[in-house]
Amino acid sequence: MTHEIAVIPGDGIGQEVTPAAVDVLEALDLEFEFIEADAGDAVKAETGEALPQETYDLAASADATLFGAAGETAADVILPLRDAVDSYVNIRPAKAYPGVDAVRPETDLVFLRENTEGVYSGIEDRLTQDVATLTRVVTESASEDLGEFACEYVADNDYDGFTIAHKANVMRETDGVFRDTIARVAEEHGIDADEVLMDAFATRVCLDPEQFDVIVCPNLAGDVLSDLAAGLVGGLGLLPSANVGSERALFEPVHGTAPDIAGEGVANPAATIISAAMLLEYLGYDEESQAVHDAVEATLEEGPRTADLGGDASTEDVTNAIIDRL
Ligand code: NAI
Ligand code: MG
Repeated sequence: MTHEIAVIPGDGIGQEVTPAAVDVLEALDLEFEFIEADAGDAVKAETGEALPQETYDLAASADATLFGAAGETAADVILPLRDAVDSYVNIRPAKAYPGVDAVRPETDLVFLRENTEGVYSGIEDRLTQDVATLTRVVTESASEDLGEFACEYVADNDYDGFTIAHKANVMRETDGVFRDTIARVAEEHGIDADEVLMDAFATRVCLDPEQFDVIVCPNLAGDVLSDLAAGLVGGLGLLPSANVGSERALFEPVHGTAPDIAGEGVANPAATIISAAMLLEYLGYDEESQAVHDAVEATLEEGPRTADLGGDASTEDVTNAIIDRL
């Protein structure tokens, strides 16, 4: 069966690292049809729209989407794109690689972040000059979907269980629903779920990341804590992510358009290529996905490396080295 893959490079180094990841996917010779579409600052300057309707429609119908990055218009692009794939969970692995300087080289974490509600539901008001408010929405149904996903994820990836990060001691109703629902779903599936207060987690993960594996978080906490973990593994440059919905998914590096190096052909393609490996796994190509992970890991360890990792190789050199190792 042919899979339709939407490819949305976007702006800046998105134009360099996204084609690199497509080259890696093409080297596997699978039945993929790649369809490219525009989004971001450049297309906005041309047409007035950062996310043209046809790009949205493509992401909403393709089996999977690979996205690079958008510049100033990032929020106008990525939030609707997550909506196009109806994504309710954001998977953010934070893993330190051999050969890469990391604050905590033993870090190997996966954040499963709720992707639709919490304080990011956008219900804000400016009541008076003095007072602004925000309504935090947490539903049992979204928490249940995330809990089901987390159970499946730990079973598929041979983890012992997961940790729920929350602050239900203070936000009793909202994080109460979040924690209680996910704990119940875990119990129904016979999966071990322990819990940690999210502020205590921030300290504990810095001191000893090995005590955690899979962390299930509300939206804002997942955003912040996964960026914190990015710091432990040596920065955002190597981090992939997946926005998964019930029928489709979108894969993207965590980094942005890197305007300071864009156009020079020296961006590190690893985060986007690892995102492509997650895409392969999502579509059921487990062996190919593992092969890409292994090839990236070997290349990070043995080189060639781009400048952000202390080397002087180009995006193309690194991509070719990864393809050669496949
Ligand atoms: P950034 O991630 O683009 O860059 C931060 C630093 O990391 C820069 O020094 C950059 O050169 C370096 N860097 C990032 N990715 C790299 C790679 N693959 N290889 C080598 N070095 C890399 O974040 P910044 O500077 O905060 O944002 C720049 C633009 O990107 C902004 O316009 C922002 O709105 C946008 N952005 C878009 C995102 C998205 O589309 N999902 C996410 C984050 C930022
Ligand atoms: Mg963030």
